[in-house]
Amino acid sequence: MKIQHNVSLKPYNTFGIDVVAKHFVTISNLEDLEKVLALKEYPEKLILGGGSNILLTKDVDALVILIRLKGISIISKTDDTVLVKANAGENWHEFVLWTLSHNFGGLENMSLIPGNVGTSPIQNIGAYGVELKDIFESCEAINLKTKAITVFKKEACEFGYRNSIFKHRAKGQYIITSVTFKLTTKNHTLHTNYGAIIAELEAMQVTEPTIQEVSNAVIAIRKSKLPDPKKIGNSGSFFKNPVVDKSVYLETLKQFPDLPSYPVSETEVKIPAGWLIEKAGFKGKRLGNYGVHKNQALVLVNYGGATGYDILKLSTIIQQTIQRIFNITIESEVNIL
Ligand code: EPU
Repeated sequence: MKIQHNVSLKPYNTFGIDVVAKHFVTISNLEDLEKVLALKEYPEKLILGGGSNILLTKDVDALVILIRLKGISIISKTDDTVLVKANAGENWHEFVLWTLSHNFGGLENMSLIPGNVGTSPIQNIGAYGVELKDIFESCEAINLKTKAITVFKKEACEFGYRNSIFKHRAKGQYIITSVTFKLTTKNHTLHTNYGAIIAELEAMQVTEPTIQEVSNAVIAIRKSKLPDPKKIGNSGSFFKNPVVDKSVYLETLKQFPDLPSYPVSETEVKIPAGWLIEKAGFKGKRLGNYGVHKNQALVLVNYGGATGYDILKLSTIIQQTIQRIFNITIESEVNIL
């Protein structure tokens, strides 16, 4: 374990923003993590996983702890389910591919999501009708203050739409070190009702898909809509889809009859922020070296050399414009630092 100084964080955030960390350490085992947490000279700490849900707007004075805890293990099996534990530093998509190679079902709809296993519960990642909470069994986390290891069962995580206890009440208090998933070994439950998946499976001429084929369909959809962070800096959806009162929706619908929506409850609907942003004229808009992605208006992109502040400014303009045109508030999904 070596603490480095003045390290560029560019390789460690998928937006590719070049800010400097005053102190930086890579952690690949729990003993080193405990040691580093005990260091008195670095009271401020910033935990980085896959760096896929963060916008860095300034240099970081804190000690950046890059979590690279690796390892996947099968904890237990029943006749048709399996508990699989993955350490926090495993790359999410590689882990999904590992589960598919063992014919374990449950993660296929969440193929190709950027980031690491350890950060997946924080915002309850989700895609194409499945959310992490659907296959989440538990996670282990170290309390930064007491250094005690706590096991969080599903209920304790308070999962919501792109939300969990780790984003509010327990924010900044824990480092998730591993996540355990409950997956199926046979009679997999497929989630293929999502429009884009139906169309993609049809195009693939698949009528009775396997979990591998669902994964292939999701990968194809994501590749066609979402920019590859290795090529164009981005952090997936920058905003959450707003959940609004039905009355607000009906009022907006009068002025915009083609406004799409998804039911959430008796009284609330979810509106795709991508639609609002496109309607407001931002889709594909480029301001020098940053802008709004051409295929998915929910994604802000860094074409290379943009600052976090540039992206933040653009996001604020988008939020204000959406508020003005539709009277709807959109919140960022990405952590802004
Ligand atoms: N839409 C537009 N224009 C756009 C983008 C979207 O009009 O430029 C409208 C269309 O009506 C479309 C609808 O939005 O039918 C939904 O679009 P899409 O299926 O692409 O999904 P999304 O709501 O924009 C959410 C997640 C994505 C996830 C997809 C698929 C959020 C904030 N985003 O996007 O997650 O991949 O559904 O399930 O919930 C992420 O969180 O980083 C992410 C990529």
